[in-house]
Amino acid sequence: MSLLSVDDELDEADDPTAIVLHGPEAFEGMRRAGRLAADCLDMLAAHVRPGITTGELDRLADAYIHDHGGVSAPHFYRGFPKSICTSINHVICHGIPGDKKLVEGDTLNIDVTPLLNGWHGDSSRMYTVGEVPLKARRLIDITYEAMMRGIAVIRPGARLGDIGHAIQTFAEAQRCSVVRDFCGHGVGRVFHMAPNVLHFGEAGTGPVLKQGMIFTVEPMINLGKYQAKLLPDGWTAVTKDRSLSAQFEHSVGVTADGVEIFTTSAAGLHKPPYA
Ligand code: MF3
Ligand code: CO
Ligand code: CO
Repeated sequence: MSLLSVDDELDEADDPTAIVLHGPEAFEGMRRAGRLAADCLDMLAAHVRPGITTGELDRLADAYIHDHGGVSAPHFYRGFPKSICTSINHVICHGIPGDKKLVEGDTLNIDVTPLLNGWHGDSSRMYTVGEVPLKARRLIDITYEAMMRGIAVIRPGARLGDIGHAIQTFAEAQRCSVVRDFCGHGVGRVFHMAPNVLHFGEAGTGPVLKQGMIFTVEPMINLGKYQAKLLPDGWTAVTKDRSLSAQFEHSVGVTADGVEIFTTSAAGLHKPPYA
């Protein structure tokens, strides 16, 4: 190997836009961290009921992650004050757990990211509190389907833009909109890294997907318009028109011939109703 190519490799390693190609240990690490994320989301399903506070859900999740050898990565991330994100109704993402009690008819996204043995398992699901309106159930079903359609196009040789295209065309055909201000991301030993995984866009554009890439697919879909605004707490993102928003998130890896989902529910609790 020439000195020049060594330098090239160093440059590439220092380039934050370079997409890391992970090996088998990374996949094994992500399987474990992803399983813990999924198990934690499974555990929470029985607790999401009228009267519980999002702060109590935060403590349950944090204790569960600690009891299983992990730590909650969000708590150490850019000053975020809690261990999980809880986003109710028109909150798009990054809602901060607190003293607010859930009430019948609420929809809730819970986003967990256990850091286990150096790997981040990032996943979120929707939950429903008692009976929710039909339009809310419909939005949740559309959002889950949008995420799974995005994941379904992942294989070596496909392009990153194919994912966003699959999500956007499906969501918009259902007269819903795709949030633009937040995206999926590379994940692994680092919580957020290249590439940015947009949930909208053109097929056949963007980087070519390669075996070993690991990233999240986490579309946020609104019943109304796509515009978001940030609340004064600096974290909570809400729909500008106050329409309902939903999100699901999986951490995935590109395999030799397709995709592996690291955060699948072992209990089969993929989307509500979970009862
Ligand atoms: N888990 C979120 C994601 O999907 C990130 C949460 S960072 C926090 O990327 F600081 F808001 F918790
Ligand atoms: Co994420
Ligand atoms: Co997440």
